[in-house]
Amino acid sequence: MPDIKLPNILVTGTPGVGKSHLCAKLSEDLKLKYHDISAVAKDQGFVDGHDDEYDCPILDEDKLLDYLEPIMSAGGNIVEYHSCDFFPERWFDAVFVVTCNNTILHDRLTERNYNPKKLQSNIECEIFQTILEEARDSYDEDIVFEIKGETEKDCQDSVKKVKEWYKSWKRRSN
Ligand SMILES: Nc1ncnc2c1ncn2[C@@H]1O[C@H](COP(=O)(O)OP(=O)(O)O)[C@@H](O)[C@H]1O
Ligand SMILES: [Mg+2]
Repeated sequence: MPDIKLPNILVTGTPGVGKSHLCAKLSEDLKLKYHDISAVAKDQGFVDGHDDEYDCPILDEDKLLDYLEPIMSAGGNIVEYHSCDFFPERWFDAVFVVTCNNTILHDRLTERNYNPKKLQSNIECEIFQTILEEARDSYDEDIVFEIKGETEKDCQDSVKKVKEWYKSWKRRSN
């Protein structure tokens, strides 16, 4: 039987909502390779300066996309990033947007010592559901799913939801 190409999944959402926490569990359970884009950009040097105002590296998108193209074409990846509109739409079979309530998010970002401006902009990003909207604008709405990242129960439910999606994707691809 010919090898079936495995799907690519994008996990996105405001910083601190619980993407990495979920992805760690997902990559244990699913035969998919996990790429934390912030870490990839740092490790591979896909950084084009530093944004002093928001205290974060500026991503060199072109270099990152060139690097990811063969990886994504092969399939079988989980990609985590706090933005989603600059990836080619064709790369992803499903986009999971993690969301979190503001009190919890505020505590998590304070724990990370974000400066006040960065903290405020991320809280507003979550309040206005910016990433959810960005995902719905950038991908077919049928492949965009909202999941919660507040509690361990949420994480378990999300793992279940992604696994169910994965199973149904496999059925459809057979
Ligand atoms: N579902 C969850 N339940 C409880 N704590 C969580 C959950 N998701 C994340 N956390 C905690 O919140 C913090 C930020 O989570 P993280 O996964 O790093 O967020 P992100 O990758 O979206 O920036 C971490 O300390 C993590 O342990
Ligand atoms: Mg993360």
